[in-house]
Amino acid sequence: MSRTVYVNGEYLPEEEAKVSIFDRGFLMADGVYEVTSVLDGKLVDFDGHVRRLERSLKELDMAAPATAEELLEIHRELVARNGIEDGMIYLQITRGSAGDRDFVFPDPAVTPSTIVLFTQAKPGLADNPVAKQGISVISIEDIRWGRRDIKTVQLLYPSMGKMMAKKAGADDAWLVEDGKVTEGTSNNAYIVKNGRIITRELSTDILHGITRAAVLRFAREAQMEVEERAFTIEEAQQADEAFFTSASAFVMPVVKIDGVQIGTGTPGPVAARLREIYLDESRKAAV
Ligand code: PDD
Repeated sequence: MSRTVYVNGEYLPEEEAKVSIFDRGFLMADGVYEVTSVLDGKLVDFDGHVRRLERSLKELDMAAPATAEELLEIHRELVARNGIEDGMIYLQITRGSAGDRDFVFPDPAVTPSTIVLFTQAKPGLADNPVAKQGISVISIEDIRWGRRDIKTVQLLYPSMGKMMAKKAGADDAWLVEDGKVTEGTSNNAYIVKNGRIITRELSTDILHGITRAAVLRFAREAQMEVEERAFTIEEAQQADEAFFTSASAFVMPVVKIDGVQIGTGTPGPVAARLREIYLDESRKAAV
């Protein structure tokens, strides 16, 4: 069934939505994005996603084509028009099209940003059976650029990482730089040792996950111990549990890293509890 999507101020059937071949998102990967999940027809962590989007735009000196209120309205309209109960909303903003290819940024007063949003229906998103079994990851070298805190559309290497994982018979990849795990291809990485939750500290090396922020807040509220520091693959392989977080997967247990079983090889109690708390609280706070 054809979706209704949003492009530069218009709601259109997906077949009719068009962006210029000169768009800098297409030519230069000069764009940023957000993925917000929808549960029970409501937006999860919307404020966090909009705040991070504003920061990404600011860091890249890119004009914001809509206010936070307008973005909320567009998200809600797309949820309603497409009848989304559970799923995701993808939003992308690029530096637009100046009608030719040029490395130099166009003047934003002359060339408006391009904004595109579309929905992805995922019935039963929160009941993904994979969360009951856990997933396997491989480790690969992190050769992405140095500003991973900006959520840009430069996703070639993360895509290659997922393909490397697939080829190796695993589900996903964790990225390693200078011997330490940075994050997953599209998620933040954690281990649990003696009840303590360990995840890399925030810096320009990783994306500041919105789910990460919420999960760590809930963990601390539940009196769980949290340590924000980098860890190695060897430490992760000897941990009691491992998991990752993202807007689309929530809290996902990892049961194997580079072929080595983690803990009992089944999802651990900390990841299971955090998933439950995150889903409960997010549903309550969803807008
Ligand atoms: N990915 N790290 C990276 C590299 C990511 O791409 C993502 C999100 C995260 C988790 O961030 P959040 O909790 O705000 O979703 C961490 C999205 C879901 C994607 O690319 O589809």
